[in-house]
Parts: sequence; C-alpha cells; structure tokens
Amino acid sequence: MSVTSSGSATQSGALEGSNAKRGLWSSRLAFVLAATGSAVGLGNIWKFPYVTGENGGGAFVLVYLLCIAIVGIPIMMAEVMIGRRGGHSPVNSLRLITERDGLKPAWKLVGAIGVLAGFLILSFYSVIGGWAISYVGTTASGQLAGQSADAVGAIFSGLLSNPTTLLAWHTLFMGLVMLVVARGVRSGLERAVSILMPALFLLLLIVVGYAMTTGHFGQAVAFLFQPDFTKLTTSGVLVALGHAFFTLSLGMAVMMAYGSYLPKNISIAKTSITVSVIDTGVALLAGLAIFPIVFANGLEPSAGPGLIFQTLPLAFGQMPMGTLFGTLFFVLLIFAAWTSGISLLEPIVEWLEEQKGMNRAVSTLAAGIVCWTLGIASILSLNLWADFAPLGFIPMLEGKTIFDLLDFFTANILLPLGGLLVALFAGWVMSRQAMENELSLSPAMFNLWFVTIRFIAPIAVAVVFIYNLL
Ligand code: TRP
Repeated sequence: MSVTSSGSATQSGALEGSNAKRGLWSSRLAFVLAATGSAVGLGNIWKFPYVTGENGGGAFVLVYLLCIAIVGIPIMMAEVMIGRRGGHSPVNSLRLITERDGLKPAWKLVGAIGVLAGFLILSFYSVIGGWAISYVGTTASGQLAGQSADAVGAIFSGLLSNPTTLLAWHTLFMGLVMLVVARGVRSGLERAVSILMPALFLLLLIVVGYAMTTGHFGQAVAFLFQPDFTKLTTSGVLVALGHAFFTLSLGMAVMMAYGSYLPKNISIAKTSITVSVIDTGVALLAGLAIFPIVFANGLEPSAGPGLIFQTLPLAFGQMPMGTLFGTLFFVLLIFAAWTSGISLLEPIVEWLEEQKGMNRAVSTLAAGIVCWTLGIASILSLNLWADFAPLGFIPMLEGKTIFDLLDFFTANILLPLGGLLVALFAGWVMSRQAMENELSLSPAMFNLWFVTIRFIAPIAVAVVFIYNLL
C-alpha cells in the first residue's frame, strides 16, 4: 500500500500501537486514488449498463442514484471511520473498538462476510476481466473495422462458447491480481491509477462523442434519465441497492481496511463523497456511451452481461481511429478491473495472515487458487452449463446459472448485509463521542449523517430485503 512508514505518524484518536506502526497514506490524494481504484472497475463499465438495460432504464437509475446518496455514501463514511478509529485490519479494528467500549465482539461477522464475499466476487470478476483481456487482441487485430452488429455478436458468442480460451484469460487475470497482492507493493499501481483513470474517463468521453453522432443519443438520454416506474420491479430495486454496494466496494470492509491508513486531519466526508461522485460519473458516462449504440443498431437493452462487448466494438469498428481507441479502451478497462480485483483479494490475504499466521506469498497463493478454481464454475455457466440452474426451483432464482447466482448472492445479499451490519455498528454500538471526533463535521451535518446511519440506511436495506423475500 502506498503509505509513508515514518514512525512519527501518531494518531491521537487511534488505539495504541496501531496506526503509528502501520504508517499512513502519504496524503488525501493517495487514499482517494486507492479507494477510487477499488471502486471504479467492471462494476461501472460492464455491470451498470447491463443491469440498467435489464431493469428498464430511468426509474432503475433513479433508485440506484438514491441508494448511492442515502445508503452508499453514509456507509462508506462509516467504514472509513471505523477503519481509522480502529487502526487495524477490519476484524481487529472492530474487535478493538468493541472491547474498548465493553461490547460483545460479535462483529467478527463483518470480517467473515467480507472474506466470503471477496472469494465469491473475485471468482467471477476475474472471468469478466478475462473477457476484457481477450478484447484487447480482438480490437488490436483490426477485425472489428466496419463490422455489422451480427458479426460483432458472433465474435462475442464465439468467445463464450470456448471454455479453454476463457480459462486462459481468467488464469492470466487472476495471475496479475495475485502478483501485486503477493508482493504487497501497491505504490506503483496507485501512481498508475492517477494517470490511467483520467485516461479511461477521456476515452469514455470519446465514445460518448461518437455516440452523439449515431442519431440516437436523445433516445439514450431519455432511456437513462426519464423514469418510467411501470418498468421497475421489486427485484429491480434490490438490484439497484446491491449495485450501489458493489460499485462503491462497500459491505466487505475494503474501505475499512483503507481507512485504517488515513491520516487524522483528513475529512472522511469529503473524501467519501469525492470517491462516490467519481465512481457514479464513470458509470453514467458508460451508460451514455453504450445506449446510443444499442438503439442505433436495433439491439436489445436487456441483452445481459454481454452488452458492452456487443456494443462498444461496433463503435470502435465505425469511428475514426477506432482500432487505436478500442485497443486503448480495453487496456484501460483491464487496469480498472485489476485495481478492483486487488482490493477484493487483499482483505482475504490479510485475514489469512492475521488469523492463520500464513505468510503473504502462501496466503496469496492459497486464496488465489481457491478463487481461480471457483471461477471455472462461472466459465462453464457460459457454455456447457448454460442451462444448468441449480436453484431454479426457487421462483426468484429461476433460470439463474451458477455465474448468475454468484453475482446475485454477493451483490444483492452479502454486500447489503455486510453494509447493514456496518450501519448498525456505527449507528448503535460505537460511542457517539468517538464518531464526532473522527468525522469532525458541523453539528447539523453530523446529525444528518447519524440519523441516516442509525435509521434511514438500515431501514432502507431491511425494507428492500423484506419486500423481495415475501
Ligand atoms: N467496486 C468494484 C467495481 O465496481 C468491484 C469491487 C472491488 C468490490 N472491491 C470490492 C465490490 C469490494 C464489493 C466489495 O468493479
């Protein structure tokens, strides 16, 4: 991690022997970069457009934005705050805070949910990261130039139908993630984020520019921003909530881990809002880039997980210098996915080191191999097991492949549950005085946050859960 290891970094509010020894982020920027690197990833560019398409557009986007604002941002602040207060890895931070306040250490559960969610998410995340790697070659070879929607669709189906190719790319992606985590060196990567994220943003803008020329930009804007509530289902609301957690990397204590390195004098609210705004901006831009292409080519918004791989190649095949821009785009997408993948594996490895006393290389290898193996089930869901819906007898899970189930169970259940526990911990367990110190907000702003974290966020999550289970 990009932390300064100067021993002089002491924190008045932190627990003894914690942050002082572990070093702190060199600056607010370093934290924002790491947190943004974790948050901005496949969730923004691959997942947001396709779940929006599947859930009818505008009304779904509105609910998603509300979830970011009233559940996501307050919970991100809580995670960062707990991390900084505890000054240790998430499990130990929660334990220390509870012990010091004389409370039951039942909060280990948050750490356990984090480790489980990390395993499950990374297993399929890496498969999709593999798709992105594969598309660097597809684009660079120039074979997309001037292709029709059918031809581009056929290239994508060709990739999905081939388990060996998918396995090769999945292996490469996992290898890249494991390499960085095993070496424990993040500083180079964080510097890379400060160049590559703006570059990705710029390329998205270029695609949006192209999308404006398709003649269907207005239709896309209407689709994304004109809410039609007849198209929104209760399960759509659950997907919007789950995606808010997924895209902000919340609910599995990643931001807690990062917060433990944040210097005391830095505003938790400002940094959390910055990260969330950047993350949301990238997602909305991806939507504006993709939907004009969808409508211009008569494609289905609800095409599912392949949506960006069936639309962006069309744009790159038609725009001037498309081969160059397309190649660059997929390289940058890999980087965005890579920094997110690292933040999924890192907490598992830290947990193995701390709880099981393994060294970093062994922990990384063990955790990586488990994720990689599990990834094979997602790969097979795309071809040989495409019709296998193991939990299809449950109405809500009808027709869902193993890949769909992993996505559903992690994003829509585990992460909101982890987030709910964090909200309850901050809202009901932690000392109010300590939180006022950590957040150092004006009394009005603190109360706004406190009411949200104590009542609004937990009730919102609970209501969405209950409606979906009934
Ligand atoms: N936020 C990332 C994305 O949108 C995915 C991710 C990385 C994540 N780390 C996480 C999701 C931790 C949940 C928890 O692509």
